[in-house]
Amino acid sequence: MKIVMLGAPGAGKGTQAKQIAAKYGVPHISTGDIFRANLKEGTELGLKAKVYMDQGQLVPDSLTLELIMDRFSKDDCRNGYVLDGFPRTIPQAEALTKALKDNNDRLDYAIDVDVPDENIINRMSGRRACAKCGGTFHIKYNPTKVEGICDLCGGELYIRNDDKPEIVQKRLVAYHEQTQPLIDYYRNEGILKTVDGTQDVDKVFEDIVAILEA
Ligand code: AP5
Ligand code: MG
Ligand code: ZN
Repeated sequence: MKIVMLGAPGAGKGTQAKQIAAKYGVPHISTGDIFRANLKEGTELGLKAKVYMDQGQLVPDSLTLELIMDRFSKDDCRNGYVLDGFPRTIPQAEALTKALKDNNDRLDYAIDVDVPDENIINRMSGRRACAKCGGTFHIKYNPTKVEGICDLCGGELYIRNDDKPEIVQKRLVAYHEQTQPLIDYYRNEGILKTVDGTQDVDKVFEDIVAILEA
């Protein structure tokens, strides 16, 4: 199973991707999580990416592609993956299509989690993320059992640097300019599916499973 999750910042890509990955036994690959993990470890890649991320801008394609191609070469990708936050530009999508094609392979679906901009800011301001496992929660919509502690791994939760309202606005601009065109790209490839991301987390997941098992 090879799936791409599309959607605005805060649409719920990560929340859904984690559940899909667990249900179908494939890795959840989030370029955002990988950049943040690198930053935490103080690697050169992490420090380079931070400059862009903190401004709500996309990291350059060259850096992102190098990182993701390396990730694809790992053993656990043999049976597929759920991609979350990649591809995010047309050149990234084209590079992915080509890399797959070179192996006589293709994506199964691109799932667009559709949420209008007006819902996004609200979601971001209540988000809490786990530094250890990448788990994502919301103080109101998806609270943890114990405040500040990850339900999945017991790690400590934190507020992402780029979740400040003024940065979220910039991320939305970058999304509309650079990432939204991927919806047409995958529609033309015949693999686009859209789910209503304003529903409850569980209902969104149900809709995605229905698509995957149709
Ligand atoms: P990334 O980490 O990918 O951030 P993003 O795309 O902006 O998406 P988010 O992680 O903010 O949102 P999400 O859709 O995963 O939503 P979530 O499930 O957390 O990228 C960060 C930065 O890294 C980028 O800005 C860029 O700089 C760089 N980057 C990454 N990949 C790149 C690439 N390929 N190329 C270039 N640069 C790249 O949910 C959000 C909140 O809502 C949570 O609190 C959650 O609990 C809650 N929620 C989720 N679903 C629901 C629901 N149905 N109802 C109510 N609340 C919900
Ligand atoms: Mg995410
Ligand atoms: Zn965790």
